[in-house]
Amino acid sequence: MTGPIPFLDLGAMPIANGFLLPSEVASEKRYPLRVGLDRDTSLVRLLDIIPPELLFHERYAFFSSTSRRMNEHFLRFAQKVKASIRRDGFVVEIGSNDGIMLQHFAALGMRSLGVEPSENVAKAARGLGLRVESAFFSEETAHKIARRDGYADAVVAANVVCHVQDPLALFRAVAPLLRPGSGIFIFEEPYLGDILRLCSYDQIYDEHASYFSLASVSILAEQAGLELVEVEHQETHGGSMRYTLAHKGSRAPGESVASWRETEEARGLADPLTFTDFAAEVAHRSTELFSLLTDLKRQGKRVAGYGATSKSTTVTNFAGIGPELVSHICDTTPGKIGKLSPGAHIPIVARGRWEADAPDYTILFAWNHADEILAKEQAYRDAGGKFIVYVPEVKVV
Ligand code: TMP
Repeated sequence: MTGPIPFLDLGAMPIANGFLLPSEVASEKRYPLRVGLDRDTSLVRLLDIIPPELLFHERYAFFSSTSRRMNEHFLRFAQKVKASIRRDGFVVEIGSNDGIMLQHFAALGMRSLGVEPSENVAKAARGLGLRVESAFFSEETAHKIARRDGYADAVVAANVVCHVQDPLALFRAVAPLLRPGSGIFIFEEPYLGDILRLCSYDQIYDEHASYFSLASVSILAEQAGLELVEVEHQETHGGSMRYTLAHKGSRAPGESVASWRETEEARGLADPLTFTDFAAEVAHRSTELFSLLTDLKRQGKRVAGYGATSKSTTVTNFAGIGPELVSHICDTTPGKIGKLSPGAHIPIVARGRWEADAPDYTILFAWNHADEILAKEQAYRDAGGKFIVYVPEVKVV
C-alpha cells in the first residue's frame, strides 16, 4: 500500500494567520485540516494543500522580531554558522522574514543574502540595510543565486522548511547551491518528537505543511544527494530540532545523529500506533480546556488571551472557544491589533488594554514564550491575575 496514513482530522479551519476586519467576516473561508504519516518517507504532513499565495503574501501578519529571546537565539544560530564555515563564507537564508537572523550575519561581517516571498517583511529587512531577494526559494532561484553570487557555504532556514509543501523539491534545490565538498544546509523546525511528547497539537496549522523527525529528514536528504550529519535539539517554539545536512559523503555524521535516532526509535516516531494515541490525546486535551473555560465563565470570571498566535487559531477553532469564553486577546503586532482572530472572531487588542483592564484569568496562547512572558508580566500575577496554559497540560499558573 502507498500514500499517507491519515491519523488526525482537525475539521474545517480558517487561514491560521488570517486576522480579519469585522467587515471581512462574511467572506472568510475555511479549509480542511487533516494530518497523516507518509509510509515511504515517515514524514508527518498535512493532507490538504492550501495555495501558498493565500498564506504568504504582502499582508503576511507574522513578523519574526517580536521576541527578545528569539532574537538572542538567532544571534547564537548565526554564530554557530560562522564557526562552521570558512572565514569569507557566503550564507543564504531561506525565508529571512524581517531579518531577525540575517541582521546577525551582517553584524558578524558575513556575506549574506535573504530570500523571502512576503514583500512586507522583506521590506522591513531591507530597511535594516540587508540584502533580500523577493522570491519563493526554488531550483530557479537557487541557480540564479549560484550564477550571480557563487556557491553558498551555508544555506540556512529557521521555521521555514516546515512551511514548504514539497520539502524534497526544496532539498533538491539547495543541493546544487552548496559549495561542493564543504557546503552545509542548516535548518531548524518544530520537532515532531516534542509535538507528540507535549501534545502541542496547536503546532498543526495550514502554514506547517510538514512535521519533521530525524527519520523523515534522513530519507528526504538521501533522495536529494544529501546526508544528515548533525542534530541539535532547541528549546524554541515549544521544542525544535536543528538539522545539518551536507553533500553525501562530504562530512562524517556525528554522534548526535546516532543517539537521537535511537531515541526516536524508542518513542515510535515512525509507528502509526503512536499517532492514533496522539489523536485521542488531542481530543481529550481540547475538551479539558473547553471545560475549564466554561467553568470559569459560570463562576463569572473574566478571561482574556495573551498572544494572537497562528497556533491559537487551531486551538480556539478545534476546542470551540469564541469571544463568549475569551473576551479579547492582546498582542504586540501592530497589524493584528484592531482585527478579529480567524474563525473564532475574538478581538485583538494592544497589550496596554489587557493591562489596564486586568482580567481574572489570561490564557497564554503564546505558551512557547511562557518564560519570557510570565517574567515580564509578574506584576499582573502579583496583583492576583492568573495565567492558563494548556501545554504540556491544562493548568492554571
Ligand atoms: P509565535 O509563537 O509564533 O512566535 O508568535 C508569537 C505571537 O505572540 C506574536 O503575534 C507576538 C505575540 N507576543 C506578544 O504579544 N507578546 C510577547 O511578549 C511575545 C513574546 C509574543
